[in-house]
Formats: sequence, C-alpha cells, structure tokens
Amino acid sequence: MHTNKVWYITGASKGMGLSLVKNLLQMGHTVIGTSRRLDSLSNISESDDFLPIEVDLGNEESIANSFKKAVERFGRIDVVVNNAGFGTGGALEELSTAEINENFNINFFAAIRVIQHALPYLRKQQSGNIINISSIAGFAPGTGWSVYAATKFALSGLSEGLSNDLKPLGIHVTAISPGGFRTNFASADALVYAGNNMPEYNYIRAHHAKFNAMHGMQTGNPEKIAAVLVKITESENPPVNLFLGSDAYQRASDKINFLSSQMEEWKEVSFSTDFS
Ligand SMILES: NC(=O)c1ccc[n+]([C@@H]2O[C@H](COP(=O)([O-])OP(=O)(O)OC[C@H]3O[C@@H](n4cnc5c(N)ncnc54)[C@H](OP(=O)(O)O)[C@@H]3O)[C@@H](O)[C@H]2O)c1
Repeated sequence: MHTNKVWYITGASKGMGLSLVKNLLQMGHTVIGTSRRLDSLSNISESDDFLPIEVDLGNEESIANSFKKAVERFGRIDVVVNNAGFGTGGALEELSTAEINENFNINFFAAIRVIQHALPYLRKQQSGNIINISSIAGFAPGTGWSVYAATKFALSGLSEGLSNDLKPLGIHVTAISPGGFRTNFASADALVYAGNNMPEYNYIRAHHAKFNAMHGMQTGNPEKIAAVLVKITESENPPVNLFLGSDAYQRASDKINFLSSQMEEWKEVSFSTDFS
C-alpha cells in the first residue's frame, strides 16, 4: 500500500478543494488540482508534487486529457475527489430548464464523467478511492433548494450503487455529506438563484436570506477535511456515507428518526399491497 497517495481533486481553486490541496501537499501527498481557469491555481504551490490542470467539467475530452496528463506525470491515481459544485436556489416553478440542467451538469454529470475516465486507471491498479462531495441537502433537504438537493441525492445514490459495483474490483466509494462549512459556497457570487421570481414563492426568499446570513458563521472548518479523507483512504472498510460536521450529523439523525417513525405509522399500508 502507498502511504503517500496521488489525489485528483476537482474545483481546487477555492473552498474545500483548495484546503484539501494545500493540506494534502503539506502531508506529503501528490495532488492534481483542476479548475475552470488555470490562472486561479497558479499561486497555490511551487511543489513538483502539485499538478494544476485547467479542466472544463462539462467536456468529456477535457476530463480525459487531464487523467492522461496526470498519469503520464505521476504514473497512477489513488484517490479521486469529485468536489466541484454549487447551489441553485428557487422554487421549481421559478427555475428554468437551463438553470436546472447546469446544476445537474456540474454537481452530478461532471462527477459521472470524471469517474468514467478515472475507472480504467483504478481498475488496472485494482485499488483506489472515489470520494464524492455530496451534501446534507442530499439526505435532508432544506426549504428553497429542491434542485440542489436533487443533484446531491443523485450523487449520494450513485455513490451507494457504485460502491456495491466496484468493491469486488478493490475500489471504494464514499459520499461525504457536509453540513455548513466556511468556504465561498454560501457567498452571493457562488450561489445561483432563479432569474424569475414569482411573488407566490416570496416565503422561499426568507429561507434564502437565512441561509445567506450563515455565510462566514458555519460550524465546519474546511482545513480539517483533509485529515478525514486521508483516514477514509487508509481504512480497509471506509464508510459509504459520511456526514461531516455536528450539524450534518444532527440533521441526518433527525431525518432517520422521522423516517423510522413514519415507516411504522404507515407500515400497514406498506404491507397491504402484497399477494396474501
Ligand atoms: N461549504 C458548504 O457549506 C457545503 C456544504 C455541503 C456541501 N458542499 C459541497 O462542497 C463542494 C465544495 O464546495 P465549497 O464549499 O468548497 O464551495 P466554493 O468555495 O464555492 O468552491 C466550489 C468549487 O466548485 C467549483 N465550481 C463551482 N461552480 C462551478 C461550475 N459552474 N463549473 C465548474 N466548477 C464549479 C469551483 O471550481 P473552480 O476552481 O473552477 O472555480 C470551486 O473551486 C461542493 O460540491 C458543494 O456543493 C459545501
């Protein structure tokens, strides 16, 4: 087993991605960091263990080339972190197809594309970790974020299914579901809101205002995530789902309790459709 691993991380120019790159390099790991703009990665590190690559996550060829470059330089990939993502807010009726598609394109389909291009290398090695940064919203959604939640439910669902499929090949998959972390995520320039506002949904704006006010006050420290991901990659039996942050843990726990009691309440109805 390699103690120092080769990591491929999307969305590395800021927030969690940037913290991961810096901390992993400091721990002696090798990192490939991707961003939409190469210049946004230029001041991160001079180290030979860091390879910054401009990648268009919407473009198959751009992703394929990045893996080719990475493997040419470092010979292998041990850990793939699908981190790039953003939040889209608004009532479903307010959001355009283009707004919805773009959120799925980056939060979900980009992860699929990255995994598809990583797998030939991971399969050949018969080892590796795929870590998908989902969200607590992908398990227990808040009001006003249904599309964002859907992208993250999709990512968590994909991770669970994939973990079954890839385990026999020695490849582990984990969905990380963070609560609030102090990054750029909740800033006005990162969040995307529906361009079309319907007065009937003004109550949703109040939920958004509450969320925006959290910016800079979140409980989660992004600098502590690298150690968690290293622990996952060193584990023989890594978790398929990991809720990150006490807030995420509490929200997930409340949801599980609610789900259990609702299942019991409706148990008779659930059983009523069996052939008797
Ligand atoms: N912070 C939180 O509270 C929180 C909670 C739950 C889940 N998450 C998830 O954590 C992940 C990282 O977010 P963060 O908190 O680090 O936020 P961030 O500081 O805003 O960074 C987001 C990263 O995602 C990339 N990205 C954003 N929009 C993109 C687009 N349209 N196309 C391509 N790349 C895009 C950016 O990549 P570039 O380098 O190309 O700019 C950026 O580096 C996201 O998937 C987010 O959904 C965050």
